[in-house]
Amino acid sequence: MSNLVPITVAEGDGIGPEIMAATMKILEAAGARIAPEYVTIGEKKFLSGFNNGIGDETWESIARTQVFLKAPITTPQGGGYKSVNVTLRKSLGLFANVRPVKTYQPYVGSKHKEIDMVIVRENEEDLYSGVEYRQTRDTCHSVKLLSRSGSELIIRYAFEYARAHGRKKVTCLIKDNIMKISDGLFHKVFKLIAADYPEIEADSIIVDIGMALVADRPEEFDVLVTLNLYGDIVSDIASQIAGSVGLAGSFNMGQKCAMFEAVHGSAPDIAGQGIANPSGLLNSAILMLHHIGQSDIAAKVENAWLCALEDGAHTGDIAKDKSKALSTSEFADAVIERFGKEPQELTLVETSEKGFVMPTHDLRTISKRHKELVGVDVYLDWRGQDAEEIGGKVESSSTDAMKFSAMSSRGVKVYPGKCETELVSDLWRCRFRATGGCVKNSDVNALLGQIEKAGLEWVKVENLYTFDDEDGFTVLQGE
Ligand code: NAI
Repeated sequence: MSNLVPITVAEGDGIGPEIMAATMKILEAAGARIAPEYVTIGEKKFLSGFNNGIGDETWESIARTQVFLKAPITTPQGGGYKSVNVTLRKSLGLFANVRPVKTYQPYVGSKHKEIDMVIVRENEEDLYSGVEYRQTRDTCHSVKLLSRSGSELIIRYAFEYARAHGRKKVTCLIKDNIMKISDGLFHKVFKLIAADYPEIEADSIIVDIGMALVADRPEEFDVLVTLNLYGDIVSDIASQIAGSVGLAGSFNMGQKCAMFEAVHGSAPDIAGQGIANPSGLLNSAILMLHHIGQSDIAAKVENAWLCALEDGAHTGDIAKDKSKALSTSEFADAVIERFGKEPQELTLVETSEKGFVMPTHDLRTISKRHKELVGVDVYLDWRGQDAEEIGGKVESSSTDAMKFSAMSSRGVKVYPGKCETELVSDLWRCRFRATGGCVKNSDVNALLGQIEKAGLEWVKVENLYTFDDEDGFTVLQGE
């Protein structure tokens, strides 16, 4: 039986085919024990009618190999094309986006001396679920969706990654001073899981100052774990300040499969010229070799690549003397020529297999606490500016089971009592509380009927629950 590991390979668009050819040439010369299955995704598929840029043969190949090495894809502007990356991430359940960020001083320019951090970004939840609404003329909203099980999975993954790679610290970026329920959940889960890894320092920072520190003192960070949106932003900040956007590899990890790709895009401005730097894709392929248990080959390739950087064998994007810049294929040869050599100044990569425990979705941890419906927030579309006028109508809609408690505009109380904000929005949140402790959905229906009868238009309803005695909703400011 062959000991070659099958992998799915997509050459991508723009510079994709050039950098993939260079990468595969290096892997083959290094003796990587892989059997590539080539598939076509991206522009060609979009143009032949697949609006997500991916054909059946690609799904079948990934299902078979469970390992996907992917060059960048061009997403055509307009025309209702879906992002290939978002489709792949969601369809394959790639819950973690992992991006190592490093400096290679003095060979690649950066203001910072020694950055060596790994960003672990949650990849499936948060504001990226794409659930958005416009229900009044003036306002719209996006749904920030977070689950306890999803948070546990990504946080445990970050700690397992840190343990397997001998990392010392995991830092969690959150904004739970404002988003107390959603980011608060992520933070709480972080603290609980950190206790299982006493040898690793666990640290939490509010995301705004956290990002400022990443930009200012990146040397102090080791592993970072965070939500989808913050992770997206901090990954770009970190790659940019390291000066290595063109060199950085990354991977997306799921329970069943993993996808490896460069951080940069398809660079259509230099496509076809044979001058692109293949290092980002090569570094992704190195991560892939570790994943499939070929750390020996990964170290051989990475050390040769570091030697090439030290020797000034550079492509045009990082070459100090542009007249000596190598082409894409010359750079691949320069790496191959250095197999077996060790870098002198950059850190030597050791050939050690990493023992990694892959966490799984543990649905047993979903809370078994007692849940009760204790009220409802009804959102109205109303274009008047007199809080007393609408407040009076809403108040009189109360039923025996549900009594009006307060009304707010953009999160601030406007009725009853003193109006504490400028009334510029057409979306009004009206809170009703259960008079007898808890209510049923039918009580909410009756209330909505009363509101309609009062001549008001409701556009959205949010149920208010308690879990044991803990509120599953925030207190209305000034309530
Ligand atoms: P880009 O990363 O492709 O290019 C930005 C700049 O960096 C350009 O000047 C380019 O020439 C240069 N550059 C990028 N990679 C390079 C390399 N390996 N060697 C030398 N120079 C390199 O970003 P841009 O222009 O915003 O996007 C171009 C296309 O790529 C778009 O269609 C975008 O949607 C797509 N894209 C795809 C990604 C993926 O498939 N993972 C990720 C990011 C963008």
